[in-house]
Amino acid sequence: MHDRPIPSLRLDGKRAIVTGGASGIGATTARLMADLGARVVVADIAPVDPEALAALGAVAAVTGDVADEAAVDRMVAEAEAHLGGLDLVFNSAGIGDDLVPVHEQEVARWQRVVDVNLRGTYLVCRAAGRSMLRQGKGAIVNVSSIVGLGAFPGRSGYGIAKAGVIHLTRTLACEWGTAGIRVNCIAPAYTRTPMVRALLERNVFDPTAIERRTPLGRFAEPEEMARAAAFLLSDWASYVTGTVLPVDGGWSAYGAAGPVDKSIPGSD
Ligand SMILES: NC(=O)c1ccc[n+]([C@@H]2O[C@H](COP(=O)([O-])OP(=O)(O)OC[C@H]3O[C@@H](n4cnc5c(N)ncnc54)[C@H](O)[C@@H]3O)[C@@H](O)[C@H]2O)c1
Repeated sequence: MHDRPIPSLRLDGKRAIVTGGASGIGATTARLMADLGARVVVADIAPVDPEALAALGAVAAVTGDVADEAAVDRMVAEAEAHLGGLDLVFNSAGIGDDLVPVHEQEVARWQRVVDVNLRGTYLVCRAAGRSMLRQGKGAIVNVSSIVGLGAFPGRSGYGIAKAGVIHLTRTLACEWGTAGIRVNCIAPAYTRTPMVRALLERNVFDPTAIERRTPLGRFAEPEEMARAAAFLLSDWASYVTGTVLPVDGGWSAYGAAGPVDKSIPGSD
């Protein structure tokens, strides 16, 4: 028996906005947050119809481009109006890149990848943070990537943006900590979402090579990202801020040459 109350992993009554909530990791996290008791508004560039909204367990959807300052300020204000305030943010809106080396890249495409993934995260944090600062509490989880932890050839725009998301997270944690706002990020590895499925269909990645490079030996499921995000958003993480949590099956821990050694006894 415990002689003191254990904080809850639940998010009962918390008012939340989830960007990129129409698909993939964002949609799965919105659903989990709603299941944990949060009232969720999804924000996405893609419209979310009422049926999809109900499937997410969300109370409303707002539509716009996270790279557009005015659109972000409007979406956050609309979410606040639906919810009566804002306690939680999960920043999942993002786009992939074209796997082209720097000397062959078009600056406009590079810029768009940086703008959606980094500027978008910055703008949503900024708008939501202003609201959270007024009430003196809140928690934000941003989405970086293993591509933000180590360099991947051909992915300079995405990698720079995702590395920037880590630094943005740390900076905001330091700026807003005394105001009661925690800011963390997760760094997912390859996760079976529509974004990754589209890349696999175009043969952009070799799934076997990825699985062999991953200590846990498989891709992640979106639910595994959602659970890590929910932990960081919950009171269980009440003393966690400014961190980057790799949710990567051991990808970033692995430093040896070649694939993971399957000859270790018991590993077959
Ligand atoms: N899937 C992976 O393997 C993986 C790995 C590491 C990081 N991530 C990151 O996780 C996040 C979610 O990725 P996913 O795999 O779920 O992708 P996804 O394509 O399934 O979902 C991304 C969502 O973001 C929305 N979006 C895109 N551009 C937007 C914009 N400008 N404004 C508003 N919304 C926008 C899309 O409409 C979509 O609903 C992204 O930030 C991605 O970079 C994914």
